[in-house]
Amino acid sequence: MYDLEDAIVMRRSTRLFLRDKPVPRDLVTQALELAIRAPSNSNVQPWQMVFASGAARDRLVEALLERADTVAPAVPVLPDSFAHLRRELGALVYGSMGIARHDTEARRLAVLRNWEFFRAPLAGIVCMHRDLGHVDALGVGMFLQTFLLALTARGVGSCVQVSIAGYPDVVRAQLDISDEHRILCGIAIGYPDPDFPANHLDVPRNPLNRNVRFVDD
Ligand SMILES: Cc1cc2nc3c(=O)[nH]c(=O)nc-3n(C[C@H](O)[C@H](O)[C@H](O)COP(=O)(O)O)c2cc1C
Repeated sequence: MYDLEDAIVMRRSTRLFLRDKPVPRDLVTQALELAIRAPSNSNVQPWQMVFASGAARDRLVEALLERADTVAPAVPVLPDSFAHLRRELGALVYGSMGIARHDTEARRLAVLRNWEFFRAPLAGIVCMHRDLGHVDALGVGMFLQTFLLALTARGVGSCVQVSIAGYPDVVRAQLDISDEHRILCGIAIGYPDPDFPANHLDVPRNPLNRNVRFVDD
């Protein structure tokens, strides 16, 4: 078990899992018990999670891949002034998978793995009641990061995926999620494939002074 600082530093997005190595349910439950300690506005506890494993996960993946084959996902578009960041991350992530910048077919296949939950045996769907707003989404985010860290501390890998929210009707139909809940994102959970170089990628962060100001006088 890692301590908190180790877990923060060790956590990274896993983009290929060991398909046949399930995560014991009690490890996931332990991580969730810690995650629900997250703060939330008025203690609303706005997180709603649905998990799919086994045949339910396989049916979900099949339905998502079928849709992704023909329809572009409805994921939020980044404003122009931020779009270069997605391109830079794409170059880094797909580069680490050995995919050349202009190899559009290899890239397409790598992107499609999103809807396979990167082969993770456990697929999570993160939802929030549709009447709640931005401030409550902050609470879901705090829950999620705590969950990710608790998984990391237990040697379990994860990847948060907005791509899953790109086909909300497919996810709703497969997992019986009502319109009352907005689907915010997915989360792939499993044991990382150690031989996949992209799983060891250390995505750089801005220096603090790009995002933080201290005002003293
Ligand atoms: C809300 C959210 C949505 C994300 N959606 C995706 C996604 O759809 N596909 C993907 O491969 N990574 C996704 N990521 C992972 C980010 O790309 C990743 O967290 C970021 O590049 C930093 O890398 P790291 O997690 O390895 O530190 C998402 C992360 C967050 C927090």
